[in-house]
Amino acid sequence: MSNHFRLCARRILLGVTGGIAAYKAAELARLLVRAGAEVQVVMTEAAGAFIGELTFQAITGRPVRQALFDPTHEAAMGHIELARWAELILVVPASADFLARLHAGLADDLLSTLCLASEAPLAVAPAMNQNMWRHPATTANVEALCARGVRVWGPAEGEQACGDQGPGRLLEPAELLARVGELFGRGRLGGRKAVVTAGPTREPLDPVRFLGNRSSGKMGYAVAEALLREGAEVILVSGPVSLAAPPGVRLVPVETALAMREAVLEAVAGADLFVACAAVADYRPREVADHKIKKTEETLQVGLVKNPDILREVAALPDRPFCVGFAAETEALAGQAEAKRQAKGIDMIAANQVGEGEGFEVDDNALLVLWEGGRLELPRQPKTRLAERLVSVIAERMDAQATIEDPR
Ligand code: PMT
Repeated sequence: MSNHFRLCARRILLGVTGGIAAYKAAELARLLVRAGAEVQVVMTEAAGAFIGELTFQAITGRPVRQALFDPTHEAAMGHIELARWAELILVVPASADFLARLHAGLADDLLSTLCLASEAPLAVAPAMNQNMWRHPATTANVEALCARGVRVWGPAEGEQACGDQGPGRLLEPAELLARVGELFGRGRLGGRKAVVTAGPTREPLDPVRFLGNRSSGKMGYAVAEALLREGAEVILVSGPVSLAAPPGVRLVPVETALAMREAVLEAVAGADLFVACAAVADYRPREVADHKIKKTEETLQVGLVKNPDILREVAALPDRPFCVGFAAETEALAGQAEAKRQAKGIDMIAANQVGEGEGFEVDDNALLVLWEGGRLELPRQPKTRLAERLVSVIAERMDAQATIEDPR
């Protein structure tokens, strides 16, 4: 699908903040207009130090908006109407200061107010000195924004206006245009809501110890990202891992199996797809000690109770989503996985051989995908690529099932 088709008549609010890269926002505005989009530029006061309003006005055919309470504009399209008008808010370039203010939820100028007041997707393209980008404060702000579902596009690496080398360059306008096109392109799962679980769970024994497993979250996070790329709205319920959530995915961090169950049951309301990739602990300690357990005894007995099976529970919901499970097996892969698929009453299972450097923690994986009457072997490859292939099979099977249910 060409960008012209995707962007035709799309209403894009282009925020411009103060930075040397602001001049590139003018080129982006030109590309967006050429692709058929309606572009309304909103500049911060600092942006005015780098580029003039008239440049944007000439390109977009619309007066630039800057003041929060401008009597002329409030009478025509007030700031709340502008927030409602936007189908996408895209901030190019996004300065370190703007990212910090966005994170803090400040609304002391028009652009930050619009970001708070609008329900439209929000994308930011950071550009700043490489030390500012690497600063822990900026990192924390960006991570928090990503976790909130803000799409962070870039920055690129390379030579900077200040002479430094490193990350902090604005992505090129053509690349940003492509990302906008992708966002509006529906993808195979466009308009669908997906919930993914990933990572391990931790089952506490006492305030400092837990029972856990080796899941790194790599497989589940790759699935979440692949679903997002196919246009799905993705909620990722994740146990403790050291990965950043893919920008645009809504992250719900949890620790225990019980917390994961609660988060999943809330998230799956209205979902079309549930992919259970988490390595959920099957059992948890019957009792959690209030204080650190002392090593006074030679042996220690820990009583365990069974955790609820989250996947089975979701599959039994009256209006359930298409359910995909994973099976981690050390032997008899196909037989065990098919038995699990049937026992849990799910639509599809992706089985992987685990143990001795396989499945858990590593970057590569191989999957045997099984569904009613079908199977597909996906050979060993990076988890990111594997996830794309799995999502492609999922999309196919969901379409096939929808056709069976509604043959018109
Ligand atoms: O995270 P990585 O390091 O990348 O490793 C990836 C992985 C090996 C963890 C992943 O590919 C995988 O196999 N995940 C499922 C692991 C697992 O717990 O499998 P299982 O066979 O025990 O469980 C079967 C299915 O039921 C899984 O979809 C699981 O999420 C789900 N389940 C299990 C128990 C439970 N109480 N609730 C569940 O929902």
